[in-house]
Amino acid sequence: MFSLKDKVAIVTGASQGIGRATSLALAAAGAKVAVAARNAEKLALLVGEIAAAGGESFAVAMDVADAASVKAGFQSVLAKFGRLDILVNNAGITRDGLALRMKMEDWDAVLRTNLTGAHLCSQQAMGTMLKQRAGRIINVTSVVAETGNAGQANYVAAKAGLIGLTRALAIEIASRGITVNAVAPGFIATGMTEGLPQNVKDGMLSRIPLGRMGTDLDCAAAIVFLASDEAGYITGHVLDVNGGMYMG
Ligand code: NAI
Repeated sequence: MFSLKDKVAIVTGASQGIGRATSLALAAAGAKVAVAARNAEKLALLVGEIAAAGGESFAVAMDVADAASVKAGFQSVLAKFGRLDILVNNAGITRDGLALRMKMEDWDAVLRTNLTGAHLCSQQAMGTMLKQRAGRIINVTSVVAETGNAGQANYVAAKAGLIGLTRALAIEIASRGITVNAVAPGFIATGMTEGLPQNVKDGMLSRIPLGRMGTDLDCAAAIVFLASDEAGYITGHVLDVNGGMYMG
């Protein structure tokens, strides 16, 4: 695909799903990849997989919801690789429930991880990218940020906020050669969706013109493109990866 030779990337939420596939794809394109998540065991497996495929990576135990952990994580990446070219803000959680009865802790946890986490990581990345006068920040939002979804007020608010953050940052740092974009996956087969009841899955599938769930690889390919030099004139954009489920 696109060459990311000599680039250094960090992917949050890399231990499984879209983050894992993205880390493998970035490494396959030539990037050195810092794989970040809370689960060190799963990260060690991923580092082994990337090495077996001839790539280079580094595991960073990091909780994106914790500012001190984020700062320490980014410092360790700089100490290891000496630069940072690509940040993929992928870490995300759901705590679904109707808004009327939503517990404050569920609201806070989702906003803190999915939105504040991306802000904290972007702040750390920008310090380095501004000095380098180049960089790519890619935020993983969701189709529901564009359509809304019952039972996910916290998640939808966080993901819609992430689109706002994408556009605000894109304007703030464009003059320094840094692009900020979002990928909006639709209904993707990962750990996040596998536990959904079959009737919910069937309902979602019936709304997808391409007639199938997306894969982690579909999302990873879009992220690799936005990370590439070839995507240098695209910023503030939301790239839908949803099989036609929503055409905004
Ligand atoms: P997943 O649940 O398989 O993976 C989420 C990853 O985020 C895991 O590695 C998890 O450990 C990590 N994570 C969660 N909280 C964290 C924290 N505080 N600090 C560091 N890492 C943390 O989910 P999936 O499907 O791979 O999701 C990846 C992203 O894609 C998420 O942001 C999700 O909201 C988004 N997305 C997923 C869709 C789907 O259908 N699967 C659809 C639209 C968006």
